[in-house]
Order: sequence, then C-alpha cells, then structure tokens
Amino acid sequence: MPKFERHLFICCNQREPGHPRGCCDPAGQAQLQYLFKQKLALRGFNKRVRANMSGCLDQCEHGPTVVVYPDGVWYGRVTPGDVEEIIESHIVNGRPVDRLILPEDCINASSCPHRNPKPDR
Ligand code: FES
Ligand SMILES: [Zn+2]
Repeated sequence: MPKFERHLFICCNQREPGHPRGCCDPAGQAQLQYLFKQKLALRGFNKRVRANMSGCLDQCEHGPTVVVYPDGVWYGRVTPGDVEEIIESHIVNGRPVDRLILPEDCINASSCPHRNPKPDR
C-alpha cells in the first residue's frame, strides 16, 4: 500500500462549558473530522490523505484548529463551510487557504494576543 501523502489533524477536543481556553469541539461530535473524511473519500483521496481526529493541539483560542502535514500549515477557526475549500484549494491544487492560516506569532506563542486578551477597560 502506498504511503499517505498528507495527514490532516483535526482537533476534536471537548472541554466543559466556560473553560477559559475554550475548545475546538464543544458538541463533542467530531463533525469537522467526519466532514473532511467524507469529502476526501468522495474525491478518492481516502488512500492518500488521512483525516485524523486529534486531541488538543494547544491552539485552543484559535479553534477549531486543523493542521496539515507534511506541509505544516495551521488553520484556525475552521467551520464546516470551509472544508470543501480546504480540500479543493490545498489538497487538490496545493494552494493553502490563506484566509484561514494562523499567523506565525499565534502558533505556540504565549504572547499571542488571542491567548492573552487585554482586560476590558
Ligand atoms: S482544544 Fe483544540 S487546540 Fe486545544
Ligand atoms: Zn493568536
């Protein structure tokens, strides 16, 4: 069997309501992962591209979070309506979806403004 060309890790972590970091899958139903898996299979990618259900990717404030490897492209605030565009643009045509890419200074950065919102004045 050929190797997978890409892995998508889709955060499906669920936390209790009101958790300060929030979470990517409040409903706990892995809807995004299911959609990626289903739509990739419809296009015949199921043997080449894997849509993995992931635990917390530590980018909770930007969630729902999806990372694509080996490209190392991180997407944030991904909705079900974005799945088709990510597949068409990134997976099929090799062009990551710029509008959903997390800024470099957000990823694994404790100084990220989303992780440390300024208190209301
Ligand atoms: S809960 Fe999804 S990145 Fe942490
Ligand atoms: Zn950020």
